[in-house]
Amino acid sequence: MTLFPGVALVTGAGSGIGKQIAISFAAEGCRRIAIFDHGTTGLEETKGHIETAFPGVDVLPVKVDVRVETEIVDGIAQVIQQFERIDYAINCAGIFGPTKPSHEWHTSEFDNIFNTNLRGLWICSREEVKHMMAQEPLPTHDGRPGCRGSIVNMASNLGLVSKDGTPAYNASKTAIISITRTDAIDYSPHNIRVNCVCPGIIDTPLTAEIPDDAPGVLIAPMKRKGTPQEVADAVLFLSSPKASFIQGSSLTVDGGYVIN
Ligand SMILES: NC(=O)c1ccc[n+]([C@@H]2O[C@H](COP(=O)([O-])OP(=O)(O)OC[C@H]3O[C@@H](n4cnc5c(N)ncnc54)[C@H](O)[C@@H]3O)[C@@H](O)[C@H]2O)c1
Repeated sequence: MTLFPGVALVTGAGSGIGKQIAISFAAEGCRRIAIFDHGTTGLEETKGHIETAFPGVDVLPVKVDVRVETEIVDGIAQVIQQFERIDYAINCAGIFGPTKPSHEWHTSEFDNIFNTNLRGLWICSREEVKHMMAQEPLPTHDGRPGCRGSIVNMASNLGLVSKDGTPAYNASKTAIISITRTDAIDYSPHNIRVNCVCPGIIDTPLTAEIPDDAPGVLIAPMKRKGTPQEVADAVLFLSSPKASFIQGSSLTVDGGYVIN
């Protein structure tokens, strides 16, 4: 029996880590996958990839800009209309933004990062949890009690430690870790698990301009970029019943970056 008999929802699924998470759910036997992104090209690429590699998987692409509350609410309604539930929600949409010290930032640049990374993630999570609270747990692979739903938020190792020049990004990711912990407390009585993942430098379009021998790569004991697959593996573990006692955690997937 698959670990994932329910419905997955992945935001930011048009590229990089989110795309790999959606593909990995299909690879691990999830048959109903909703994907959100504000770019339609990426959505179609991810849908096409899954449908070619895993025939029979039902993929629902929805164009959603997570900065727009109505688009999130409408998008979640479409998922419920088509799939009737949301079991594994992965809030991954995010941007990095400019690199410069705070005194050179425009307020609009700061707002754009917070509206995407933090406010957008929080609204997605809020809407997901409303449906999770109203649904019954699915059977699990080994018969242990299942949860009503699992949420995994995409934070960053830069939510745990800092680096120069990205004050808004770092702060948005620290706030995601904080919201994850608060929601984990609030929704434990509802049998919903909320965790986050803190990747280091991962080889995606977001980090394309960071060379393999950049100081930010070499500072990690493992001295390399991670792969989207390595992050997806951590996300799927946290989403699965094998993580049934893991609640409010911030799992680093960073080659040891934060321990150095
Ligand atoms: N790549 C890394 O090194 C790294 C490290 C730590 C954390 N992260 C986080 O992982 C997540 C994914 O990053 P990635 O490297 O895959 O980047 P990416 O740029 O490859 O993918 C991000 C996806 O999010 C989508 N997106 C951006 N803004 C959006 C919006 N307003 N509404 C809907 N979709 C939107 C983009 O269209 C894109 O498809 C982000 O939250 C990022 O902060 C990445």
